[in-house]
Amino acid sequence: MRTDRTCAIPLFGLVVFAFALGASLPLSAQTAAPVTGADVYQKRCARCHDEGVSRAPARQVLQTMSAARILRTLDFGLMMAVAYPMKREERVAVANFLGTPGDDAPTSPKNPCAAGMQPLSAASAANWAGWSPDPSNNRYQNAEQAALGMAQVRHLKLKWAYGFAGDVTSFAAPTVLNGTLFVGSAGGLVQALDAKTGCVHWTFPANGPVRAAILPVHNGSSYTLVFGDLIGWVYALDAKSGKLAWKKRLEEHEATRLTGSAVALNGIVFIPAASWEETRSTDPQYECCTFRGSVTALRVRDGSLVWKSYMVDTPQKTGTNSVGVPQWGPSGAPIWSSPTVDTKRGLLYVTTGDNYSVPATSTSDAVIALNLKTGRIVWTQQTLANDAYTSACRNKGVNCPSTNGPDYDFGSSALLVHAPNGKEILVAGQKSGVVHAFDPDAKGKLLWETRVGTGGINGGVQWGMASDGQKVYAAVSDVSAVMNTAGPVGGATFDPAKGGGLTALHLEDGATAWFAPSHPCDPPKPGCSPGQSAALTLIPGVVFSPSLDGHLRAFSTEDGEMVWDFDTATTFSTVNGVPANGGSIDGAGPVIAGGMVFVNSGYPRNGGMPGNVLLAFGPE
Ligand code: HEC
Repeated sequence: MRTDRTCAIPLFGLVVFAFALGASLPLSAQTAAPVTGADVYQKRCARCHDEGVSRAPARQVLQTMSAARILRTLDFGLMMAVAYPMKREERVAVANFLGTPGDDAPTSPKNPCAAGMQPLSAASAANWAGWSPDPSNNRYQNAEQAALGMAQVRHLKLKWAYGFAGDVTSFAAPTVLNGTLFVGSAGGLVQALDAKTGCVHWTFPANGPVRAAILPVHNGSSYTLVFGDLIGWVYALDAKSGKLAWKKRLEEHEATRLTGSAVALNGIVFIPAASWEETRSTDPQYECCTFRGSVTALRVRDGSLVWKSYMVDTPQKTGTNSVGVPQWGPSGAPIWSSPTVDTKRGLLYVTTGDNYSVPATSTSDAVIALNLKTGRIVWTQQTLANDAYTSACRNKGVNCPSTNGPDYDFGSSALLVHAPNGKEILVAGQKSGVVHAFDPDAKGKLLWETRVGTGGINGGVQWGMASDGQKVYAAVSDVSAVMNTAGPVGGATFDPAKGGGLTALHLEDGATAWFAPSHPCDPPKPGCSPGQSAALTLIPGVVFSPSLDGHLRAFSTEDGEMVWDFDTATTFSTVNGVPANGGSIDGAGPVIAGGMVFVNSGYPRNGGMPGNVLLAFGPE
């Protein structure tokens, strides 16, 4: 089923929208002369692709590729670091300028499921549906649904591997529902696979890369799948056929980026929004910054709006940067992670990232409770004030705000946990390396704080903790070096012994129960770091922690003893015949359902090892 990618790539599917906010937004967004692909090529690509810079294919080679493929390379392929400062319009223009019309993605998979084999038809339902099996975001799979215990984990074996054609990144959060696995990809292809064998039921081409979990929402007779992509589109598909029910842009801002998975309640989905604006700002000509973090509540039925809540006020012009380009604020407070549903209190909790420009707001680096019905902010607990930052700060760029960071976002969800003392608490881990616990019955009053890592721009707790109601488990990234913005992604030189580590904390007081140190890269290799940035996954007795070194490891929740280890940074033969290899594991953690463990491997962003594989493990 390939419907959207026709000839030249339209910008946002032909809708070149005007900002609804009118006069208060940058002129460049409204009236600037249209960019031409030739100009963009000269400015951003020619210095390598016309000059024979090592390994860079010549312009003539790029001209044999499809425009859609070149765009994917800029969005989430080898050139994504080069493209950080580029606006959507510029990416589309240069892709159309260079590439051939049409697409080069495979139209039919090599391993379709047998005729008559229907999605969602497994005899027993074992599900991990969305970012977490439960809307409290504990990332804990119970014994019945997991169908996997410590004894089996010790003997997990690879059952099948699936390759994402043409991709160098494999970072999406899988969802498992009634025997079918739904997963997005860097190339923007959403796939419905048989969880047991990896055969393909259907694929759906999204407009941009999809890394958020595909959320199934029951609709009476079947399920509707809801998810966002990394260029700001939200989709609803029929789970059985993969047919599009509706799609829409969540935000008007061109830099919108949807990483956080949606959650649903009573036919309404809540979708968080983050952005690329931090990296757009490395261009001194960029009018920094106008993106505002938000949550949007939509009816699953038709995508109509229930409410929208912004984390900062409408940005106003605040002056100019040192090269005379207008500056705007407040901005930022993006939401990178999945919201947490609290039906008992009628609240939706989100965690926010930093501001991008001054004035800084009280809603950045915060845990925020919204009214589920109206979206109104009920309370805000900020853990770090005055954290305004853009990627321009890394190289003393002109679009670095005066506060200059430290960029201690919350990148992961808050967990609503039943502690052993009978109390419910909210636990959130921050890039600062600190885990915080809040009282949901006292407007988020701070209960305890424990440092589990050093913290940093790509440091501390990044993508997600997990809790079994006894302890909370937090792994840290703490990688030694960050983001290569000069050339192709991947292969950075990290300190092979620095970073990572997994800590178990008691829920009552945040005291450390145990600490499992990280494993140095052995042997050290480009793109390898011991950092444990990806989200954790729990079943009774076992916590899984993937690493940037490519290993997926499992630890006993009792004492942190390592009970299983698999190195994914190698080549695999795949069920769909696509050449594939694993690399760093980052972003989404594994998901576990029906006795199987699924994990994506390959994450060259920030310098890690590339890869394009989805792996499925089961007991011997
Ligand atoms: C700093 C140098 C540099 C710049 C600037 C640069 N590239 Fe590249 N590009 C490379 C290199 C090197 C490779 C080959 C990477 C490899 O094979 O590992 C490459 C590969 C590519 C590929 C092939 C990717 C693939 O998946 O096979 C495309 C398409 C591409 N570049 C497009 C662009 C476009 C469009 C621009 C401008 C917006 C650009 N590049 C700017 C160095 C650069």
